[in-house]
Amino acid sequence: MPHRVRPDRARALRRRLLLAGGLASLAGLAALGGAAPARAARPELLVRFSHVVASGTPKGQMALHFQRLVAERSAGRIRVEVYPDSQLYGDEDELEALKLGAVELLAPSLSKFGQAGLPEFEVFDLPFLFDDLAQVRRVTQGPVGRRLLERLAHQQMVGLGFMDGSFKQMSANRPLRAPADFKGLRLRVQASRVLVAQMRALGAEPVVLPFGETRRALARRVVDGAENPLSNFLTQGLQAVQTDLTLTHHGYLGYAVVSHPRFWTSLSAPNRELLQQALAESLEFGSRLSAELDRQALAQVLQLPHLRVHALSGLERAALQQAAQAVHQSFEQRVGHGLLAEVRLAIAADN
Ligand code: LMR
Repeated sequence: MPHRVRPDRARALRRRLLLAGGLASLAGLAALGGAAPARAARPELLVRFSHVVASGTPKGQMALHFQRLVAERSAGRIRVEVYPDSQLYGDEDELEALKLGAVELLAPSLSKFGQAGLPEFEVFDLPFLFDDLAQVRRVTQGPVGRRLLERLAHQQMVGLGFMDGSFKQMSANRPLRAPADFKGLRLRVQASRVLVAQMRALGAEPVVLPFGETRRALARRVVDGAENPLSNFLTQGLQAVQTDLTLTHHGYLGYAVVSHPRFWTSLSAPNRELLQQALAESLEFGSRLSAELDRQALAQVLQLPHLRVHALSGLERAALQQAAQAVHQSFEQRVGHGLLAEVRLAIAADN
């Protein structure tokens, strides 16, 4: 029986080798129980792309699509290595790793930029702000989105584009149809002040946890529930640790791909152009896939024998919305009055 290295230990080893520049040694890491990419000859340029979700999610697929496009278009000169599932870095250290030059690309959810000193990104976390992805796109693909990407420069990041995620649903070991159902529950949230306030407004106790620790925390009953898009719910296997999924559709979760200015400006113009173009196409690919995988995931969860799935009536949803509404007023200042007004205008404009 081969000795299996615990995932956190394998992750620490991978990091040490990468930081030591031991790229050639990585092939052996597959033996440690991880999924280190197969090694070929040393490329002219290496781009390490780390993210926290499974490869089967829209974000995971977007990263792999990007990897393929870059390999084809550079004829192997540029190699993108994708590290999914917090294998290399998780929520707690990925932005630091980018600053240190230990990775070149990340795709954090927008909710994770607030703690990095960019609270305006938490506008996307406001509960019940968006009804559908078309409204989100009018914000992210318009002047507001452009300005937000530019703001990333204030925190030593280059904003390369947005990718649509999808809407979050609530899970727990009971239905969450009304504010009274949230009372006394500890619900996992991302490190966003808006999300913390949202859970409090609904009557729950928010617990901030890295994504990579959520499943274990649910299994051990450290937390009672969580909010996730269906693709994250399924690919994390949360149906094994939650009995009820309520289709609250209460908030949006999307992504921005970022790099570090030191890396980005070090690229030759043709390489930068190639990466930028491949990424733009991959983000579109991922956004389209998000909507499709969300539909598939819904069909899948409805078939799961041990999961109770609850749809809300209009009145039930309105009561949750009303309970969460106070968050909009109290966070207007944090996300910026002007920005919120512009976002609302973009939402209202249906062109
Ligand atoms: C989460 O932490 O719940 C999400 O940001 C995970 C992700 O990247 O989809």
